Amino acid sequence: MSSSRIGVFDSGLGGLTVWREIRRLMPNEDILYFADSKNCPYGPKPPQTIAKLACEIVDRMIAAECKMVVVACNTATAAAIDTLRQSYSIPFVGMEPAIKQAALNTKTGKVGVLATKGTFDGRLYKETSQKYANNIDVMVQIGTGLVELVEADEYETEKAHSLLEKYVVPMIEHGVDQIVLGCTHYPFFKPQIEQMVGNRVAVIDPAPAVARQVSKVLIEHDLQNNNSHVGTDLFVSSGDVGAMRKLLKSMTGKTYSESEVEFGGQRFNALSVG
Ligand code: DGL
Repeated sequence: MSSSRIGVFDSGLGGLTVWREIRRLMPNEDILYFADSKNCPYGPKPPQTIAKLACEIVDRMIAAECKMVVVACNTATAAAIDTLRQSYSIPFVGMEPAIKQAALNTKTGKVGVLATKGTFDGRLYKETSQKYANNIDVMVQIGTGLVELVEADEYETEKAHSLLEKYVVPMIEHGVDQIVLGCTHYPFFKPQIEQMVGNRVAVIDPAPAVARQVSKVLIEHDLQNNNSHVGTDLFVSSGDVGAMRKLLKSMTGKTYSESEVEFGGQRFNALSVG
């Protein structure tokens, strides 16, 4: 594997919504994406288990000469970002719950947050909401089952629509005018949610802000790739790559071929363009 890549990982395919924004903003960076699909979902797992999985992934990413790592998973950020920053010398960027933006923009004083149990239980969510949304009515909702629908390539089905209705309609009835997507899998449902809420409610995906933060951190550490080469992408998975291939095709319009790669001393399934 080539040196100086940006490593991006998630419990599965959700982090691709963050990868997409990083790719858009930094077209000449090489990116290594890791989907821990074998261990997905992270949401219901104890934080210690998630932190251990995150350290194993980062060990592999460092062995693959990643210059920084983006934790493209709110749940893993909540469980592991402090441990990662204490244990490794490379820079990390994690997911920030976009509650600040929602709190600043709300006119009704009511916002909704859709995330996993692990994210709501974490210190980061509690601190951010206390800091920015102390005077705001925040309606929280665990998106049980949504991650699994993305992983199974069933996010555009009737089943997905009913589940989203169950989570989103009570928020609209409550009067929220901002809905924060607090899990990187959920932006795949953004078009459906926007159709449900119409133009009364803003649906916030934090991925573009996270990509801007990645760029800032690269510059601060003088790690950006300054040559004009076209950035490459390698997508590695601890599970099957079938759903990832379909999802990538629908996101980029490109075709991806499967191979086996060595990643941190072990063989994994991988996809790259071609
Ligand atoms: N994409 C992860 C997140 O942002 C999903 C968590 C899960 O696997 O449950 O939280």
